[in-house]
Amino acid sequence: MTKVTWFGHSAIQLQDGKHRILIDPFISGNPVAPLTSGQVQKSDFILVTHGHSDHLGDTIALAKRDKCTVIATWELAKYLEKKGVNVHPMSTGGAHDFSFGRVKVTPALHGCGGDPDPDGDVVPPNSPVGYLIHFGKKVVYHAGDTALFTDMKLIGEKTPINLACLPIGDNFTMGVEDAARANEFLNAERCLPIHFNTWDIIKVDPKAFAFKIEKQGKKCLLPKPGEEIEI
Ligand code: NI
Ligand code: MN
Repeated sequence: MTKVTWFGHSAIQLQDGKHRILIDPFISGNPVAPLTSGQVQKSDFILVTHGHSDHLGDTIALAKRDKCTVIATWELAKYLEKKGVNVHPMSTGGAHDFSFGRVKVTPALHGCGGDPDPDGDVVPPNSPVGYLIHFGKKVVYHAGDTALFTDMKLIGEKTPINLACLPIGDNFTMGVEDAARANEFLNAERCLPIHFNTWDIIKVDPKAFAFKIEKQGKKCLLPKPGEEIEI
């Protein structure tokens, strides 16, 4: 049984009883997170889509606490390694088999700059990415922060996607219209909207997105932050 938990913003946890992974664990400072970073369950791996602070979030502290490996792009991985974190570097287009399943790095159209960290260092420029994750018997796509792009058609073409986590908040990423269009390209069975309503600048109505997805004959999950949903 594979379960997904959304902690608000783009933070997603996947677990199947054997493995637990976290994606973009922005918990501290996340106004909609339902728990503190100390309350996040132990992870086997953390995946980070890019170096902006609302995605890198609590990665360093949680990775050190859990002695887990962080999957990130090369530039971000080098930075994290210097901070004392175990890393597995990857790059766009590459895939690798991990204990929980295969991960493929997908492109994302977004900014590549890094924010200053609490040590006064600046996260180096790094490519924003998404991840296509085989987790147990399920395939989950986490788009990261991205604009709509037609190559999304390729992502789900050979591998049917069970769950697509898509940013819908507009302003910095796709909005409702483009995210619904993205799922026409991805053809995912279910969608879970992310990167919205964390702050006023990305305030949108997730029900408008759900309506568009259901019109496609697909399902839209609208969990409360912290709610576990079986996929
Ligand atoms: Ni970003
Ligand atoms: Mn973001």
